[in-house]
Amino acid sequence: MFSSLNFFFKRPKTVTLEWMGVDMHSHILPGIDDGSRDLGSSVNFIRGLSELGIEKFICTPHIFTEVYPNSKQTILPVLERLRSELKRQRMDVQVEAAAEYMMDLDFVELLKNDDILPLHGKYVLVEMSYQVETRNVDQFIFDLNIKGYQPVLAHPERYIYYHNNFEQYRKMKEHGCILQVNMLSLAGYYGKAVKQIALNLLKEKLIDVVGTDLHHVKHLEYITKFVKSGSAAKLLADYPMRNKELFR
Ligand SMILES: [Fe+2]
Repeated sequence: MFSSLNFFFKRPKTVTLEWMGVDMHSHILPGIDDGSRDLGSSVNFIRGLSELGIEKFICTPHIFTEVYPNSKQTILPVLERLRSELKRQRMDVQVEAAAEYMMDLDFVELLKNDDILPLHGKYVLVEMSYQVETRNVDQFIFDLNIKGYQPVLAHPERYIYYHNNFEQYRKMKEHGCILQVNMLSLAGYYGKAVKQIALNLLKEKLIDVVGTDLHHVKHLEYITKFVKSGSAAKLLADYPMRNKELFR
């Protein structure tokens, strides 16, 4: 009797993100980039992902001076506003802030000045343009390493100029770069080609961590469906994903 009741009340592990634990890439701080527009939306995104089993959120607004001129000064006060609102609503979740850095000349300056918001300890989330490869990407990785940081490359599967060049992914890993796949890529949100590359990267065990890269409610809905259908666990639950190990 009790065991059958248990069956109904316990969430089966196959339809949660408990294996992931930490979402280390999202745009859920309100009003400072192309992500969440307001505090209410941010709380809803956190509630939605918490219900799926995420325990810790590292929010990563863009720092891309030409488009999103964020800094510690714009990010940290918003983090505090969000934390206060979560506290007010008695939501017991851990929320931190870092940034997703565009690898450009402004980033070089920030790195020189040690003005960096890492994900956790020594890990720094970086991205490139979707259209054109960052010319001196190896130099960026080298500079980060010299400063004692380990780069985490956001969504490698979305850089189409690497799709026929898996050697580049391997090289980046050899140079100490961690690769982070987007859950939305695996769910098919960005199309078939990106999904296939994400799957191939998993197959070759080149991926280390997964993030939602959640920007808006459509993303939350897509991820929720992907998880609740059991598809996410089918692809990922047995994969040696390092989210908890590196970021908890
Ligand atoms: Fe992002």
